Amino acid sequence: MTHPLKVLLGTLSALALAQGAAASELRERAQELFSPLPSTIPALNDNMITEEKIDLGKALFFDPRMSASGVFSCNSCHNLATGGDDNMETSIGHAWQKGPRNSPTVLNAVFNEAQFWDGRAADLAEQAKGPVQAGVEMANTPDNVVATLMSMPQYIDWFTASFPGEENPVSFDNFAKAIEAYEATLITPAPFDAFLNGDEAALNEDQKTGLALFMDKGCSSCHNGINLGGNGYYPFGLIEKPGADVLPPDDRGRFAVTETADDSYVFRAAPLRNIDQTAPYFHSGKVWDLKVAVQIMGTSQLGEEINDAEADQIVAFLGALTGKMPDVTYPVLPAETLKTPRPTGEVK
Ligand code: HEC
Ligand code: HEC
Repeated sequence: MTHPLKVLLGTLSALALAQGAAASELRERAQELFSPLPSTIPALNDNMITEEKIDLGKALFFDPRMSASGVFSCNSCHNLATGGDDNMETSIGHAWQKGPRNSPTVLNAVFNEAQFWDGRAADLAEQAKGPVQAGVEMANTPDNVVATLMSMPQYIDWFTASFPGEENPVSFDNFAKAIEAYEATLITPAPFDAFLNGDEAALNEDQKTGLALFMDKGCSSCHNGINLGGNGYYPFGLIEKPGADVLPPDDRGRFAVTETADDSYVFRAAPLRNIDQTAPYFHSGKVWDLKVAVQIMGTSQLGEEINDAEADQIVAFLGALTGKMPDVTYPVLPAETLKTPRPTGEVK
């Protein structure tokens, strides 16, 4: 007769095996839909990344003199101390004006297929030229940015070192390229990446159940890839339009980009990395509770009520997308000179 303890041990190890199998089955399903962050800085189109360029881009990202008022830097609305966004419903910019949309995080933005809630910029270099000129953001002009940079010899040296061999290294295009290079370093590896890379223990049981729900319910049909979003366009309210409090009627999303009726209220599936750090939610910034945002997605995009327990588990899974922040040392910027254009607070 087999010793009872041995039977018990046998059953236990069979159970552990079965659990292991279920776990790796979950991981295999996930690997088909999502990709881990790469372990190195991604290559950019037509913009070679060098140490010099990254450092220059970082200085520009933190320099408030890139705005007309001298008050707003990229970091004002994409604060790297608070998840790469500003934690406001919609951003406050030049002369205390309130912008129309919530500020998305710059973290991992390099992996979005297009930038902005409506995807109107193809990449980060194109994107970076927008806020500098937007009247409600930095309210500046390309000429004034270049004049400001040219007034500080240290910036001229940095641009020359970052764009070697170019006749006019200090240009608005190169300003944007340097920022793009810096943003490409803002990558946050998370427990979910470890899980996708084979570490079953990187997610706890609630997070695994949440991951299964995220796939079973169909969230992953729109939120997939490296950033779990950032790569496709869908009507916000595909099945049921959220109320005007969440989806203000005057912002029709991609309609403004394509002027096609079908694109009314179409937005980019939002990227979800570090989502528990970047409340409030949606382009309107009207929802502060991630669980409520998940339940709104259930009714608006899937036509399904997501109950409290399920929503908690999905939120637990989303927490596994919060990664390790890059180390950011506050840069020391060149001092302005008598030639530096003076700040202006005027609203044009
Ligand atoms: C006054 C606040 C403000 C400032 C200053 C600002 N941004 Fe933004 N940023 C926003 C808002 C709001 C959006 C979303 C706008 C939209 O989708 O229409 C955005 C979008 C972005 C995105 C797109 C992210 C995504 O997921 O699509 C990136 C990248 C970005 N900004 C980088 C920058 C850089 C670089 C600078 C400095 C040159 C900058 N921003 C300055 C508020 C700001
Ligand atoms: C049909 C496509 C689609 C499906 C399915 C879908 N979403 Fe979304 N999701 C979107 C779009 C589009 C947005 C951007 C909405 C906006 O304009 O504010 C979004 C936004 C979000 C946001 C807010 C992001 C932010 O930065 O504010 C969260 C959280 C979210 N989705 C989670 C989920 C979850 C969880 C599910 C499954 C229950 C789900 N989504 C299903 C398309 C989808």
